[in-house]
Amino acid sequence: MDRRPFATTTHWLRLGGLCALALGIALLDTLTDREIAIGVFQVVVVLLAAGFLSTRGVTVTALGCAGLVLCSYLATRTGDREAGLVNCIISLLAIVAVAALSLRLEAAKRAADAARARLVQAGRLSQLGELAASIAHEVNQPLTAIAASGNACQRWLSNQPPQVERAVQAAQRVIDDAHRASAVIARVRSLVRQAQVAKDWLNLAATVEKVLDFVRAELAERQVAVEVRLQEGLPPLLADESQLQQVILNLLLNALDALEGVAPEQRRLVIQVGQDTAGAIRLGVEDSGRGLTPGAREQMFEAFYTTKAQGMGLGLALSRSIVEAHGGRIWATSLPEGGTGVYCSLPKDPQP
Ligand SMILES: Nc1ncnc2c1ncn2[C@@H]1O[C@H](COP(=O)(O)OP(=O)(O)OP(=O)(O)O)[C@@H](O)[C@H]1O
Ligand SMILES: [Mg+2]
Repeated sequence: MDRRPFATTTHWLRLGGLCALALGIALLDTLTDREIAIGVFQVVVVLLAAGFLSTRGVTVTALGCAGLVLCSYLATRTGDREAGLVNCIISLLAIVAVAALSLRLEAAKRAADAARARLVQAGRLSQLGELAASIAHEVNQPLTAIAASGNACQRWLSNQPPQVERAVQAAQRVIDDAHRASAVIARVRSLVRQAQVAKDWLNLAATVEKVLDFVRAELAERQVAVEVRLQEGLPPLLADESQLQQVILNLLLNALDALEGVAPEQRRLVIQVGQDTAGAIRLGVEDSGRGLTPGAREQMFEAFYTTKAQGMGLGLALSRSIVEAHGGRIWATSLPEGGTGVYCSLPKDPQP
């Protein structure tokens, strides 16, 4: 577990509180002449230290507490010396036992955290394994086409006389297919890149507005009426803003595609940001488009599922893995009035 070195004010305040508590107990231990082991309460200091200090910090605290118990035994002038010695030994043993146990507990927690991180990583890798097969297929298509067009180009050039114009067309096809292949690779890269998530507190409504700014010109050109419904007083969300922007953009682009072929006066897009009953932040993008084709609802979040001639089928797969990396979920429904709604629910503060 990552513990930041003595940096923040809270850390110093806690440390000050611990010292005060340890000294208070030692003072009480020294001043009272009752035959009870007041020094044993130093274990509370050790337990509190284990909650926020590193292994070394806990060890130093335990040694400090043991030192205070010894000092207060030596400094106590009143009462029974023998009982005092027994109390002192009991306190020392308790401190050592509690320190050792809390350090072991901490080590076990660290091992569990590491194992969980490895599991998540393994899960990701197996998903990537499945993806690799589809990627190979997807990239293979343009590569086969490139080889065919390259051959054709060669043939047109070796004709007598050389058919330069047709050769140029074949070369153009080579270039187009190469772009297609590299576009697939670029999108797949963004899937893999998610290992490095940079989360920060953000306001999802503001993030939606930023993305809308990107596409405003496109929306106006396509004569789409956009309604944005933002719930007031939304709590901030711990998330990677650039990744959420990608999700919102993918949903908007899909909605725009679905609106193609719909009469301009019926092109409507509703974007909602609110909070659901469980407190999670809910984003919804609803369109009045052509709706989901049969089977799309089950498959649309799978990589390379597309019903579009120019589509890659990666937009929603990418969005789903981003939303899931934020501890949330994404789903789609056909709207009763026609069109599609795609929704994401994101917990405010996902567990790491
Ligand atoms: N708003 C929507 N309305 C109707 N169908 C949709 C909608 N959003 C997604 N779909 C269906 O889900 C499929 C997958 O969407 P996805 O965004 O993953 O890929 P794509 O849009 O086809 O390609 P791209 O990789 O360029 O995003 C789409 O091809 C479409 O059939
Ligand atoms: Mg898409």
